[in-house]
Formats: sequence, structure tokens, C-alpha cells
Amino acid sequence: MKKTKIILDCDPGHDDAIAILLAGRHPAIDLLGITTVAGNQTLDKITTNALHVCEYLNLDIPVYRGMSLPLVREQVVADQVHGETGLDGPVFGPLKTETQQEHAVQYIIRTLMASDKDIVLVPIGPLTNIAMAMRLEPNIIPKIQEIVMMGGAYGAGNFTPSAEFNFFADPEAAHVVFTSGAKLTMMGLDLTNQTICTQDIIDRMEAIGNKAGKLFGDIMRFTLKSQQEAFGLEAGPVHDVTCIAYLIAPELFTTQDMHVQIDINRGPCYGRSVCDENNSLGLPANCKVGKGIQLSAFWDMVAEGVKRYED
Ligand code: BDR
Ligand code: CA
Repeated sequence: MKKTKIILDCDPGHDDAIAILLAGRHPAIDLLGITTVAGNQTLDKITTNALHVCEYLNLDIPVYRGMSLPLVREQVVADQVHGETGLDGPVFGPLKTETQQEHAVQYIIRTLMASDKDIVLVPIGPLTNIAMAMRLEPNIIPKIQEIVMMGGAYGAGNFTPSAEFNFFADPEAAHVVFTSGAKLTMMGLDLTNQTICTQDIIDRMEAIGNKAGKLFGDIMRFTLKSQQEAFGLEAGPVHDVTCIAYLIAPELFTTQDMHVQIDINRGPCYGRSVCDENNSLGLPANCKVGKGIQLSAFWDMVAEGVKRYED
């Protein structure tokens, strides 16, 4: 099976952790490196979480620390969803592994410049590292095969009425990426909110009976609780996992090419992804936007991913 080379840029984060789980051992994915970015919690916290998840799953993947603050705006975190640690729920032992010395932004630049346009960037947190890399070395842009990201929405936001969390946490970075000319695919809330993980899905993953199934349960039980408390919802989505699933099986998704711009005005729509779904502006599309997903095949894929962790 031909593997897609990816760099996973993340802020674990409950759904980020499950994205690592699915990508880490999938035969169609070559996970070159994990880069971390402040988002769901501070950089120190989410980087520790990334190391814990890799260590717990015996994944030998280099982890690089990235940007600790957004480009321009003041920092916001999503502690009401992800808790004080950024990954409340699972309990890990003492951490044995460390991050690489190189900064995530330098790693992204070095790796892309040495590549043959065969690497997909998969940002599932705020776009700070990606924007910083593009500004520091614009020559990386033609080297990017594609950016498949979780963020934004063409409908309502989740952090404000207008904006989704990842884009709201660094709107200026999202603006840099959406005006870069790179090939973009956006899995926004309209699609990712369909991936709600209910108790029966948790039971299914735990019944697999291995350490990955236990991690899935420990993670998603907390998400269920926090979604109930914060939003009165019965279940929580696994937003970030859709990016990995799309790379593995794009045929499970329906998408639409749209012109997308990011509102960086400091008004009520700050951080909104303004998606021209009806092509009202007649501008050329700059992004493929996720719309639909075949859910039962998606959860089958996640279950297969959990089963790959037998050791
Ligand atoms: C996004 O925000 C984060 O809280 C999740 O990890 C996901 O990347 C959803 O809005
Ligand atoms: Ca995330």
C-alpha cells in the first residue's frame, strides 16, 4: 500500500490524541513527525500530552515543540472542553521521552525543503506553526503537497457564534494559510460535528480489549462529560480524526470547492471562515471544504485503528 507522508501539527487535546492513535499505525500513513502548537491548552501542557500518548502507544515518532503563542492576538485555550491538563481523563505514568531539540517551525521548513512535494501537512490545532513556517521560508509553499486541516465552519462556530476554536485561537495565522496559494482541504464543524462519539461507540472500542481501546475510552468518557456540562450535548465529536480518515479513504467524504477567507477584523466575526458556498462572489475556489462523511465506515476505520495496537 502506498503510504502518504504526513506531518501532524497538533494540540492534544482529546480528539488530537485519537488522531495520533489512528495515524500512528495505519498502513496508508507514514507519520514523519508530530509538531505541537499552543491551542487547547498551553504549549507545555499539550506537548507533554503528545509525548504521553506516543509513549503509551509505543509510537516511536519524533515530537517537536512549536509556537507557544498566537501570531498577533492574545492567547485563548479550550479548557472547558479539554480540562486543566488539556487531556483530562487518561492517567499516564511518569514521562520517559523528550521532545527533539529543533523547533517545530524549523523542522517543518527543513523537512519540506528537502522533500519532493510529497508531504501533506495535517494541522489539527491553531495554524500558528504553519503560518510562521510560511512567513519564515516562503519557498516551502510550492513544496507542500496539500494541507488537510481541521478548523473553521461554513455554518455556526463553536467558540463564538461565528468562529470555530482553531481559527479563533489564531485568526491571523489562518489568514496567512488561506492566502498562501497552497492546496487546502478544510474539515470544518459542518462535517466534524457529525462524528459524535456516543457511549455505544466507547463500549465498542473498549471491548477490543487492548491498551488503545482503553485510551480511547478514558479520553472519550471525559469528552462526553465535558460536552454535557459545557454545551448540554449528549455526546462529543472527534473533529480532528476526520483529517486522518480523509487521507486514508477520501471516498468516504463529500467535499465542495469554495472560496474561503478568514475574518481578521476584531468584530463579532473575528476568526470566522467565510466560505462562499453559493459562489456569490464568483472568486476562484482556494479550498476543498468537507461536507459529508459515511459515518459507519468512519467508525469501522477507527475500530480497525484501535485493533492495530496489540503490543
Ligand atoms: C477543534 O478545537 C479543539 O478543541 C479540537 O481539538 C479541534 O481541533 C474543534 O473546534
Ligand atoms: Ca485539535
